[in-house]
Amino acid sequence: MKNIVILISGGGSNMAAIVRAAEREDWERKLGVRVAAVLSNRADAGGLAFAQARGIATQVLDHKGFDSREDFDAELARRVDAYAPDLVVLAGFMRILSPGFVDHYAGRLLNIHPSLLPAFPGLQTHRRALAAGCKFAGVTVHQVTSELDVGPIVEQAVVPVMPGDTADTLAARVLTQEHVIYPRAVRGFFQRAAVCQAVLTTSA
Ligand code: GAR
Repeated sequence: MKNIVILISGGGSNMAAIVRAAEREDWERKLGVRVAAVLSNRADAGGLAFAQARGIATQVLDHKGFDSREDFDAELARRVDAYAPDLVVLAGFMRILSPGFVDHYAGRLLNIHPSLLPAFPGLQTHRRALAAGCKFAGVTVHQVTSELDVGPIVEQAVVPVMPGDTADTLAARVLTQEHVIYPRAVRGFFQRAAVCQAVLTTSA
């Protein structure tokens, strides 16, 4: 069985979308993939209750208890590695990760960012898209590299900016598309891995 570990900091609606897709599409049977654990850096992250109710292992590791980013990331990696992850999914995990952490999971670390990258990396994406007069906004799933919000793009979805939009109304419209493309990106990761494995097996 291949393992997904999901990292969250808040409501966890993207995590929930991935878990629901895994159940609906029976990833365990069809892909040999399961969501093994959900970890949060905040004890009040709403998504923890959802994961617990689904019988998924959860852990909280509060970053405030660590002297440095590197110390926190090292302990986080230690806990994530306990689930032998084939893929680590950042789903609203609001921490910048140190190069050591990113390198450790190179090629198996995905993030979702609520803008059409390379536009608007960083925070306040919807407010900045509105201020720039954008007619379209959207969301990006990308591989994580040590540069913030810059890694190779895996999936994107576009939404229109509507007259009278606020950052909140635009964020809600984008979020509905996040829930479509993040499960698709995760499923695609394992489907591509399966194809590669089949090719290697055939040519061996
Ligand atoms: C989502 O909109 C996600 O794109 C964003 O945080 C939200 C988390 O929502 N991520 C970032 O801004 C990362 N820079 P969720 O907890 O309901 O999935």
